[in-house]
Amino acid sequence: MQTENTSLSQNLNNKSVKAKKRWQILSEALRGSKSRDTCQNLVSVRRFQCYGLFNVEPAITHEEEATWMEYTCSEFPLFQLSVRHLTDKVNPETLHGFNNTGNVCIWPSEEVMTYFCLKNCSWFDGKAVCELGGGMTCLAGMSLAVYSSPSCVELTDGNENSIKNLDIMVKKNHQMFGSTQVNTRVLKWGPSGVDADLQDKFDYILCADCLFFEEGRQDLVDTLYSLLKTDGEAILFAPSRGETFQLFVDLAVSTFSVTTSEVYDERIQSMHHQMKAKGLDHYDENLHFPLYLKLKKTQPSTS
Ligand SMILES: C[S@@+](CC[C@H](N)C(=O)[O-])C[C@H]1O[C@@H](n2cnc3c(N)ncnc32)[C@H](O)[C@@H]1O
Repeated sequence: MQTENTSLSQNLNNKSVKAKKRWQILSEALRGSKSRDTCQNLVSVRRFQCYGLFNVEPAITHEEEATWMEYTCSEFPLFQLSVRHLTDKVNPETLHGFNNTGNVCIWPSEEVMTYFCLKNCSWFDGKAVCELGGGMTCLAGMSLAVYSSPSCVELTDGNENSIKNLDIMVKKNHQMFGSTQVNTRVLKWGPSGVDADLQDKFDYILCADCLFFEEGRQDLVDTLYSLLKTDGEAILFAPSRGETFQLFVDLAVSTFSVTTSEVYDERIQSMHHQMKAKGLDHYDENLHFPLYLKLKKTQPSTS
């Protein structure tokens, strides 16, 4: 009985420590406190932040609402990108405005998708590439623009603050784009459809961690279909997040041929297994481990 009481009181104590921590983080966010890590988040499930595939060094320039970071990667010595992380100050506007999840941090799926794209960068040479729901950095699309040679890269999100940040990043990195045409645009998946100039334009579409929005799921399938060329390909990464990955796949199969995979890169696979084997309680594959999804338009029947 005494052991039960002790473990109950330890449990309550842990819960109260966690609750205090959450309130502290939220209160710092509301005050826009600079003291915390730029990627530290509002909820405990986000304590796992990234796989550490990139070296991320703070740049000397500091701004009130953002921090500049220099991204490099030992596997790709010529890769360098200046990335502007918004300082995620929470205010009534961000809480009530358009979905703000892309201005909070760069999610592990985006990190992994970026690494995957850099590894396969020759696929994108001379191709028209679009990123959907890329958040404040569109890290994958932006990285391809500086590292490989797509003909054009369209960087998009539905959130206007994300696009403002992308515009600033484009200005900062433009000398690295070479002949690649880089544009940004507010693009909301939804019934109003896709601007005429983007329809059937893209060889590749990139999209990370955007499959969990209940209301947006069919709209995202339709948007992908509308943007892709007939023989184009969409590359998506997202954690399973309960049923949400599979629910998206269930919708996509009506207009796309679909390939899914957990085993798409040796290094990611081995890091994933190591973290699982260590039993780290902040690593939850349901929320953190990105699954790979490839969509190709179903070819019209020739018969
Ligand atoms: C979890 S964030 C992912 C951001 C980024 N890809 C990453 O992984 O770091 C989801 C993104 O989807 C965008 N989004 C949500 N619903 C949308 C919609 N209907 N149209 C366009 N973008 C949307 C949000 O603005 C947000 O940037």
